[in-house]
Amino acid sequence: MWWRLALPCPAELEESLLWKLSDLGLHRHALQHAPEQRDQVTLLLWLPQPEWSSTDRSQLILTLAALAKPFGMAFPEGRWDEVADEDWSLSWKQHWQPDPVGARFLILPAWLEAPPEHRERLVIRMDPGSAFGTGSHPTTRLCLEALEARPPVGELVADLGCGSGVLGLASLGLGAEAVVSADTDSLAVRATTDNRALNEWEAARLRVVLGSLDELLQLLEGRQVDLLLCNILAPVIEALAPGFERLVSSKGRALLSGLLVDQAPRLKRVLSDLGWRVIREAEQGRWGLLEVSRSSTSSIS
Ligand SMILES: C[S@@+](CC[C@H](N)C(=O)[O-])C[C@H]1O[C@@H](n2cnc3c(N)ncnc32)[C@H](O)[C@@H]1O
Repeated sequence: MWWRLALPCPAELEESLLWKLSDLGLHRHALQHAPEQRDQVTLLLWLPQPEWSSTDRSQLILTLAALAKPFGMAFPEGRWDEVADEDWSLSWKQHWQPDPVGARFLILPAWLEAPPEHRERLVIRMDPGSAFGTGSHPTTRLCLEALEARPPVGELVADLGCGSGVLGLASLGLGAEAVVSADTDSLAVRATTDNRALNEWEAARLRVVLGSLDELLQLLEGRQVDLLLCNILAPVIEALAPGFERLVSSKGRALLSGLLVDQAPRLKRVLSDLGWRVIREAEQGRWGLLEVSRSSTSSIS
């Protein structure tokens, strides 16, 4: 027997909620997008009933509600249902469908075939387990569209905060020479490794390490990358940014997402002080992406 929480999930809270659940070790969740209205999202969370008293569940809601405070938002009201003998993982899978992104990609759940209308697309197979990054989040989509706009053909790419590995796999699909990835979450490292194998790329083409910038630098043994992908929250990007110049070659660029549009001005100032130049900005809903370059000659192609 399970408790299932259905919680309307505003875009600004989506990422924080997923992070908090992951922090709490609660990995049985899914995001349900309303058909035809992708911005209406419901978070579904399954909890084993014997372990979750009503006090525990109220406490969990209070913990999650605290995430809405920085946004000055009222926390949405959720609904708890008792679900008898429901296989949460099957339910989770039911909510996840082939997802065309941009003009070229199709994010395809590992257990499905590509629908005929999408056969021409570049398929990225995903079995994300509990790691973030099925491709449906606006920040992941922004990164995929930016990759598509300027494919990293023949480039060495770093994926910092790789989650399910989706951005690294997309880079290889677009012709990158190789990808080095890192994530502080061991589940993400496992998901990236599994998804690499699922997409039949050799281990040498997509390497992944548990950790962050320093571990990536160790993996690179003095080489610098042409392109850095970093889709993490704005404050984390800000904290990591002073290290980017060690990672990215002097002619390289970075795609930074995970920021809310209203966090962009501050991040731009920080990056500018560190010698980075914004060469492109994009947004989807309240989420933003910055494409930045170290070189004064680099421009949008
Ligand atoms: C928003 S998810 C992005 C996942 C994937 N790259 C995508 O675009 O869909 C951010 C990921 O960054 C990881 N992360 C958070 N802080 C990090 C840090 N300081 N260094 C490396 N990874 C970090 C999280 O564990 C999470 O998997």
